[in-house]
Amino acid sequence: MPYTFARSQELFQRAQRSIAAGVNSGIRKMEAPVPLYFARGSGPNVWDVDGNHYLDFQLGQGALLYGHAPAGFADALAAQARLGTHWAAQSELEVEVAERLQRMIPSAELVRFSNSATEVVLTAFRLARGHTGRRLILRFEGHYHGWADEGLVGFANPADRWGDDEHPARLHPSKGVIPEVLDQFVVARWNDPEHLRRKVEEHRGQIAAIIFEPVLCNTCCLEPVPGLLATIRELCDRDGMLMISDETITGFRFGAGCAQGYYGYRPDLTVLGKAIGGGTPFAALAGTRAAMAKITAGEVIHAGTLNGNPLCLAGSRWCLDQVAALGTAHPATIQRLGRRLMDGLSGLARQHGVAMRPQGPGLVFHTVILKPGAAEGPIRDYRDYVKRHDAARWGHLRRCLLEEGVRAIERGLWSISLAHRDVDIDEALDRSARGFARHAATWQPA
Ligand SMILES: Cc1ncc(COP(=O)(O)O)c(C=O)c1O
Repeated sequence: MPYTFARSQELFQRAQRSIAAGVNSGIRKMEAPVPLYFARGSGPNVWDVDGNHYLDFQLGQGALLYGHAPAGFADALAAQARLGTHWAAQSELEVEVAERLQRMIPSAELVRFSNSATEVVLTAFRLARGHTGRRLILRFEGHYHGWADEGLVGFANPADRWGDDEHPARLHPSKGVIPEVLDQFVVARWNDPEHLRRKVEEHRGQIAAIIFEPVLCNTCCLEPVPGLLATIRELCDRDGMLMISDETITGFRFGAGCAQGYYGYRPDLTVLGKAIGGGTPFAALAGTRAAMAKITAGEVIHAGTLNGNPLCLAGSRWCLDQVAALGTAHPATIQRLGRRLMDGLSGLARQHGVAMRPQGPGLVFHTVILKPGAAEGPIRDYRDYVKRHDAARWGHLRRCLLEEGVRAIERGLWSISLAHRDVDIDEALDRSARGFARHAATWQPA
């Protein structure tokens, strides 16, 4: 029998009387039929308050690279909690975590710790402007860099206002944003190196930095086309711009050296979040000595009461040690498991006549469903995705999968954790078979 969610419904009703809109992050309202309330997790499994069990590929929006509640992590946090959770001062732990990052990521010559990747992005922008004396940041359509005013310009431009292909609009999805913020950005399309060259040329000498998700996980899991990352590096070197790699999702998921090690490039600054803290509020800015110089000199301010708090540091040290200990087995193992899951889902889709085309490198991937009549072939950028992906049909299928105990990120992203094994992929596919059958029997296009 498909799952039901009576207790989550009840809690959601109650929450709306004390929490604005009933959730603490807007995106959580997307979960249908109701934002779920969770009771506990273990490895790749999570249970909601109705007792429903899920094979989890949502993984705390990707932060739980190590699975739910790994025993060593709980011990590391508990041991530190007994010694103290907050000093707003220095500790040997912070040096230990910084040194681990230096060993794992060649471009991480210096680091600074924060509580969320959103904050780190803002620090990186301030630093890039301080470093270059320039105002503009070049970013790409569909890339997400946190929820602040500066992180969301051009992220999810609606099709009727997104401008022509050469001039993507600088729109912000939120009200209340300082209008001048929009003028501080150049928005370019992803995966078109020649277009990028033209955008840089148009604003030559005014751009402080280029920021990007190395794999566009927040829109369809789009890997960079060959030559794109090298073009960004070349343009940054040529014009004195900083190359900012936002590895909030890819960091440590793509191996100890992150996506920059996996794809072979060296950014000036790196944003690290999610997996660096394993689910604690921990994030870091990493950079070369030259790029970090204005922070080192105290000319660019970076501060925060909770920065580098010992509880998060103890968790992070444990997480980084897990990744380092795996050596070359990571990301190979999760990549193999992810590809098995992608293949299995593709097979089910074929069997039930659903035009699903999972896309991505495997350790993380996106389940695209082509709209009726849409062209075949990999999705290339944000516009292509909006035009060809059938979001309504995916929403219906996602709910059917959820009701069978398979949970992906609401918009269609799947992540594999270090706790997943082949038996979990087998079970997820067995359950998905039931989800696909019900989807095929009940889906009705609008
Ligand atoms: C690529 C990227 N950058 C930045 C952020 C912001 O991270 P946080 O929500 O921890 O502030 C996210 C969050 O999903 C992200 O995916």
